[in-house]
Amino acid sequence: MEEKLNVVPFVSVESMKKLVHRIGVNPFLNELAAEIEKDFLRWEQFDKVARISAHSEEGVIELMPTTDGEVYGFKYVSGHPKNTRSGCQTVTAFGLLSDMRTGYPLMLSEMTILTALRTAAMSALTAKYLAPKGADTMAVIGNGAQSEFQALAFKEIVGVTKVRLFDIQCSASMKCARNLRGTGIEATICNSAEEAVLGSQIITTVTADKQYATILTDNMIGPGVHINAVGGDSPGKTELHKNILLRSSIFVEFPPQTRIEGEIQQLDADHPVTDLYSVMAGKRAGRTSKQEITLFDSVGFAVEDFSSLRYVRSKLAETGFYEELDLLADPDEPRDLFGMLMGA
Ligand SMILES: NC(=O)c1ccc[n+]([C@@H]2O[C@H](COP(=O)([O-])OP(=O)(O)OC[C@H]3O[C@@H](n4cnc5c(N)ncnc54)[C@H](O)[C@@H]3O)[C@@H](O)[C@H]2O)c1
Repeated sequence: MEEKLNVVPFVSVESMKKLVHRIGVNPFLNELAAEIEKDFLRWEQFDKVARISAHSEEGVIELMPTTDGEVYGFKYVSGHPKNTRSGCQTVTAFGLLSDMRTGYPLMLSEMTILTALRTAAMSALTAKYLAPKGADTMAVIGNGAQSEFQALAFKEIVGVTKVRLFDIQCSASMKCARNLRGTGIEATICNSAEEAVLGSQIITTVTADKQYATILTDNMIGPGVHINAVGGDSPGKTELHKNILLRSSIFVEFPPQTRIEGEIQQLDADHPVTDLYSVMAGKRAGRTSKQEITLFDSVGFAVEDFSSLRYVRSKLAETGFYEELDLLADPDEPRDLFGMLMGA
């Protein structure tokens, strides 16, 4: 890639599609999970702050910044559960990487697809540490945009070969089952969440509803399961009954953010939780017994997006899947911005 500082590589949706096809969805998920894990292993190097949220009645818009001192990154992400009714996405996103030394952007990228990939990669990476050994069956409750990505990441990274699908809209489950055909994952469509969790060692909840929902009740959760709770990710937006949380060992990305946004917003502010980075570093235990209920209270943290953007950037030179964006003014004499404008 030729170094033209004022021209910023832009990864459009079309380029992202090409990139994922070139690499393959499964290797992409695997490599992405490895990048995220590497960054979690250097956790102290990152500036960490709970994301900045703007709420409306319909949804939320969030900014997620971080830096490792050399590269700065942020993601813009929206979450508007009613959007699908008018043919729009619940989650949309884009993100940017910049050089900390010059402040010049290094890459702008679509992140709607990338967020689905990174959320799934993070869920499966976490399950590698927490799910019961040999788990091959996962309930997936909520079969919208994120669901196939979750199923594929769990196949690739954890070894899940059977998914039990439930959605209040059967058409969503049918879409998910159809998309998973030929992937080596056997999909069963269930009539209720209760039916979906039967025989599942892993339970993924990935519904979208801006309320305190109860997707899982206490009686649905037997000993030894791993819960991957993805959809509860905003104040007033949860998926699990509080009693499940009280029986579970809870693992989180960045506690100050999860306490505001995750399932644990239902608990006291000092309820014990375990940081995932310390589990990955071997400093804290993951699953400690066959009976233990483990819960990944996923909300999505800026470092995961930083890792994902860096991963995508590392592929640009070899694939050429980007466009050049004329994003930054570049006068011949740096102080003569006005002259550049008038000379146009
Ligand atoms: N934790 C993270 O890092 C992260 C990342 C991305 C998205 N999310 C969240 O994941 C959720 C799903 O996102 P999406 O893009 O797949 O949304 P989506 O709107 O495409 O799909 C959500 C699905 O949930 C179903 N649903 C709603 N209520 C339900 C219920 N009570 N029982 C069963 N199914 C129900 C809907 O019918 C829909 O098919 C959202 O809440 C989003 O905010 C979290």
